Amino acid sequence: MSAYKEKVNFSFNDVRLEAKEGQTVAAALYENDYKKLGTTRKYQRPRGLFCATGRCYSCLLTVNDQNNVLSCMTLVEEGMSVKSNQS
Ligand code: FES
Repeated sequence: MSAYKEKVNFSFNDVRLEAKEGQTVAAALYENDYKKLGTTRKYQRPRGLFCATGRCYSCLLTVNDQNNVLSCMTLVEEGMSVKSNQS
């Protein structure tokens, strides 16, 4: 029996996606094949899930209009709007 019980709908860059209840935003995006979550400001280098422990700041996203949220430490919620940090 799976630990996850319900599906949760959220959006990433205005694309509707599905996650499992209890997943972090980063895990849900990774499962939906979004490996690149954003880019660095200066050189536009790709950034994505790296440490998954909240220590590297590689997974910063905008969640419900709040900037610089650690997506690997934030649980996905129904109707959540997630966007890449735009530079
Ligand atoms: S992946 Fe390192 S802080 Fe989220």
